[in-house]
Amino acid sequence: MKRNILVIGSGGREHAICKKFLDSSKVNQVFCAKGNDGMKIDGIQVVDILENKHEELINFAKERKIDWVLIGPENPLMNGLVDDFEDSGIKAFGPKKSAALIEGSKEFAKELMTKFNIPTAEYKSFSDFNLAYEYVKNNSLPIVIKADGLAAGKGVVIAETYKEAKHALKEMLVKNTFNNESPKVVIEEFLVGEELSLLSFVNETGIYPMATAKDYKAIFDNNKGPNTGGMGAYSPVEYVTEEIEERVLETIIKPTINGMKSIGTPFTGVLYTGLILTTNGPKVIEYNARFGDPETQVLLERLDSDLIEVIESLLNNKEPVIKWKEAGVTLGVVVSAKGYPNDYETDISLPNFKKNNTIKIFYSGVKEKNQRLFSDSGRVFLVTCSDVSQEKAQEKVYTWLNEQNLSSFYYRHDIGGTIKKTN
Ligand code: AMP
Ligand code: GLY
Repeated sequence: MKRNILVIGSGGREHAICKKFLDSSKVNQVFCAKGNDGMKIDGIQVVDILENKHEELINFAKERKIDWVLIGPENPLMNGLVDDFEDSGIKAFGPKKSAALIEGSKEFAKELMTKFNIPTAEYKSFSDFNLAYEYVKNNSLPIVIKADGLAAGKGVVIAETYKEAKHALKEMLVKNTFNNESPKVVIEEFLVGEELSLLSFVNETGIYPMATAKDYKAIFDNNKGPNTGGMGAYSPVEYVTEEIEERVLETIIKPTINGMKSIGTPFTGVLYTGLILTTNGPKVIEYNARFGDPETQVLLERLDSDLIEVIESLLNNKEPVIKWKEAGVTLGVVVSAKGYPNDYETDISLPNFKKNNTIKIFYSGVKEKNQRLFSDSGRVFLVTCSDVSQEKAQEKVYTWLNEQNLSSFYYRHDIGGTIKKTN
């Protein structure tokens, strides 16, 4: 029988997941709550229920005979949506609330890494501003300050001066900008090296790493400016050898999953490890308890297997059949509202895009009015292209972007490496 699937979330990541599900011959309908209007172009059924309305989501799933649910974003995972679906007899892909803490609390993650000798940056946590600032002043710069709790990728400040560090600590601990019940920060040593996102499918019987991906978190070219949710990505990453992948698996991913099991919070779903490849080996800078955004939009383009079959095998604790493309590269560039990740305008009309068969668009923040799409959040959409090389994919994405009238929007010009200016 063909499946009806419900995906929770509303961003580009969920657009890519839903679209991949629709490629399967096993699927009947794919619903996305709350989704966004751009997804409708690809035949995704958008459901107007917010991700925090657990009862409404469960009722919808029952009424529409949903076979299983996939949860995209961190907030519903942290709020126990997987637990609630499972309590009502509906299978849900993602970690339970207790395991989602690996993303939800930097302090929990750091303690786990210390306990199980998982390589990460040296750190100390603080809830008192004066003690935190004292610690910063006794350490060298740059220094990394992370708000404990969920912050949509914006809770990390790399302070180059003590003044900047002081400002960040004030914002996080005194003003409590991220609205935490008891604000805390983790202050961390600055690690030097290339970055890597390695995501793994995890169930009770195994760990299945995905292809490698690189995300660009800073808003401006050359990784300058404040951090965002991610401004672009590509996969696979040319500087990651099989030896490095093996080392990440053995020294980081396996001990993390085994550690979570041994402390009574077994992790299932997608574990995202954000890493820096230092001269002393790979070290963890963050864990996420879910697919990354924008990594997913490029990673799923690399997946040759049926994603419905993969998730079903994982949900049934079987070994999934997962095949990644061996040749070529997929690269994606995020188009955002000007001003993001700080204040930005919404309601900017999107141009009519020129058709191009090699380009795919994944919408993250758009709404429809009078049959036109308007921006509705900071990150608006992402454009991907797959080609034989990083340079080719990059050239095609930027050529296409250059051909559209995007003067009211913003995007980085260096996703995939330094390139000639295109506009
Ligand atoms: P996170 O949200 O923890 O991934 O941090 C956002 C970005 O800040 C990362 O992608 C890195 O570029 C940078 N970052 C975080 N932690 C560190 C660290 N300890 N050393 C150097 N860069 C870091
Ligand atoms: N791309 C970073 C994240 O998904 O958190």
